[in-house]
Amino acid sequence: MKLPAIAPDRLPALLAAMPKAELHMHIEGSLEPEMIFALAERNGVALPYASIEELRHAYAFTDLQSFLDIYYAGASVLLKEEDFYDLAQAYLARAATENVVHAEIFFDPQTHTARGVGVDTVIRGLSRACADARAQGTSAELILCFLRHLSEREAFETLEAALPFRDHFIGVGLDSSEVGHPPDKFARVFARCRELGFHIVAHAGEEGPPAYIWQALDVLKAERIDHGVQAVHDAALMQRLAAERVPLTVCPLSNQKLRVFPDLAQHNLKRLLDAGLCATVNSDDPAYFGGHINANFQQVFAATGMTAEQAWQLAANSFEASFAPAADQARWLARLQTTFERFAAPAEI
Ligand code: HPA
Ligand code: ZN
Repeated sequence: MKLPAIAPDRLPALLAAMPKAELHMHIEGSLEPEMIFALAERNGVALPYASIEELRHAYAFTDLQSFLDIYYAGASVLLKEEDFYDLAQAYLARAATENVVHAEIFFDPQTHTARGVGVDTVIRGLSRACADARAQGTSAELILCFLRHLSEREAFETLEAALPFRDHFIGVGLDSSEVGHPPDKFARVFARCRELGFHIVAHAGEEGPPAYIWQALDVLKAERIDHGVQAVHDAALMQRLAAERVPLTVCPLSNQKLRVFPDLAQHNLKRLLDAGLCATVNSDDPAYFGGHINANFQQVFAATGMTAEQAWQLAANSFEASFAPAADQARWLARLQTTFERFAAPAEI
């Protein structure tokens, strides 16, 4: 496709306006401090923070684990189906304003079942919000993630508990503390999930080594790698990811806040694209990392000097990397073309 030329000063607005798919967003990570306090009050949950400001102050992370400790504590206010509905509804409404046309949303059932909340409560609330978003024109699906710091047995129990609701989620993933919990710990769980017909994704190569990405591909048969930025340290892996167009769901602000890169200017997103990988931009945990998907696009573009051509590539990659039907992907690609043409036109006076 021929790309219209875009003036550099129009790039931030183009990044916001272009249609895109979000493929790496943990719904619990969209829980804003304001909503944590509102739900704590609604549900009578005591918080170890006196104010919203005090809670926000605690969001000073040094690595993945320092974030996860606060992220799991924040999720403790989610108890009722309505809470999960409200959370997902708020995210999807926000995503629509950022021109997200399709979202594949992660959720962590074990974070909630550990507190006595039923899987049914979690899935019913989230699924109803997805259905409402679809009715309003945003495509939305759910992906169930297993917590990798827990055991294989607990993952199997979670899968069993969720199976009565199997029509409500399209895939399974693997998240939480990466180093020390390699993908092959869950080989049998993912084999069962494949038999059941679920799509397979896995966090790998966020903080962990390229070997974890190989395992996610070869053992779990992951169709996408979440994060995957450590792949650049393994030339053979980079070749494989490029040749097979295995998507990476990259999250620049997350990587910045969790110090995967010393600063955003040193992020390797451009390098991944230059190597021919199907990289995408996503928000991971927007309430904790300082921005939703458009902030991720705008800040990484500003820091690394990427261009409109790369914006096009990233949006097109997000559709290609999605599990949406080909007809939907083609429709979104056509909208991308129209948006670029609109931005190529001289600005209205
Ligand atoms: N990595 C691992 N687990 C997570 C993340 C992440 O970036 N966000 C929420 N759970
Ligand atoms: Zn993540």
